[in-house]
Amino acid sequence: MPTQNKSKLLIVDDLQENLLALSEIIKQDDRTIYQASSGEEALFLLLEHEFALAILDVNMPEMDGFELAELMRSTEKTRHVPIVFVSAAGKEQNYAFKGYETGAVDFLHKPLDICAVRSKVNVFVSLYQQRNQVKHQVEALEKSRQELHATQAELQRSLRMRDEFMSMVAHELRTPLNTLFLETQMRKMQLEKGKLDAFSEPQLQRMVARDERQIKSMVRLIDDMVDVSRIRSGKLSIRPSETELSALLQRVVSDLSHQANSAGCEVTLHADVKANGIWDEFRVEQVIVNLLTNAFRYGGSKPVTVTLTRNDNVAEITVRDQGNGITLADQHRIFEPFERANTKVGSGLGLGLYIARQLAEAHGGSLQVESAYGEGAAFTLSLPFRNGLIQQ
Ligand SMILES: Nc1ncnc2c1ncn2[C@@H]1O[C@H](COP(=O)(O)OP(=O)(O)O)[C@@H](O)[C@H]1O
Ligand SMILES: [Mg+2]
Repeated sequence: MPTQNKSKLLIVDDLQENLLALSEIIKQDDRTIYQASSGEEALFLLLEHEFALAILDVNMPEMDGFELAELMRSTEKTRHVPIVFVSAAGKEQNYAFKGYETGAVDFLHKPLDICAVRSKVNVFVSLYQQRNQVKHQVEALEKSRQELHATQAELQRSLRMRDEFMSMVAHELRTPLNTLFLETQMRKMQLEKGKLDAFSEPQLQRMVARDERQIKSMVRLIDDMVDVSRIRSGKLSIRPSETELSALLQRVVSDLSHQANSAGCEVTLHADVKANGIWDEFRVEQVIVNLLTNAFRYGGSKPVTVTLTRNDNVAEITVRDQGNGITLADQHRIFEPFERANTKVGSGLGLGLYIARQLAEAHGGSLQVESAYGEGAAFTLSLPFRNGLIQQ
């Protein structure tokens, strides 16, 4: 039996030979026996260990068995340890031990009857073991109750998140849809009234551009949701092919110039090096677009820089803005799905960075943020040149 499962018994007697004799009588595999030759020594052991039973010699110099028992009863840790007094036959029988009613107390008389001693001790030990078993069962029950409680809370949280998510998606789709709907209503009215000058070529061009923006924003939203569900089911795959990052960055920055203008952000690109690797061009573009869109949205209309650097192993793209930045606490959170640091600024589902980091990792790379609140933010996408393949 492992030591920690054994029941501990304490025997206290001032005579060494009595301790030895008693210990011989009661020893068994399922017990550890501790011996003390004085009340004081016994108290030390009692405070250190949890005993199933203490067998006290009544007649000891200095502190006798009854005094020790009274001290035991007055301390919380030792109050419930059952006590068996060993006394000389005929003597001390009538001693009115104070704690008698409160705890299990019994007597043995000298000369000791081996069978009586054994059976008495066995009863106490098995009582102790049963009590311990019950205690463990109660603890296990309490633990399952707590687990159940936690699962319930988690379930409620998921349900709440699902509801919040649906209302967020509805809102995000509603906004561009409403704009489109209003536009069509207006055009219908104009057509009905025969106002054809509203459909001149420059007007039409502006209309188409506006419509396109609304439609694109809805498509992006739906694509994001599809990506998240792919990530969650482990089905997000990348299709790597030869990709050159400086050309890619030039294209993305120029494609987003309209958005940069509307946000009042001036974008500077530093990409003098060439970085040719095997990456999924569309996915890398998606990450950069996400980072730039965020820089426009949260960058407080201040300048934004995009920098490409490389060494032999890795190419790094950093998008840096001078907006409010992100607190350390939020820096972990914002890479989780549906997490947004400041819900007051702009709208969005809080999926962009989550997807972007997953895409970076799918390339064997990473996406990290460096920021302090009030000091702008710098997001760095690291892409390793795969398989040691380095192209210039
Ligand atoms: N450049 C940035 N500066 C400050 N905060 C940012 C920046 N980029 C992202 N964040 C914060 O991280 C959150 C999560 O970003 P993201 O996953 O792209 O979702 P969304 O843009 O839809 O809110 C944003 O809501 C914003 O609070
Ligand atoms: Mg975003």
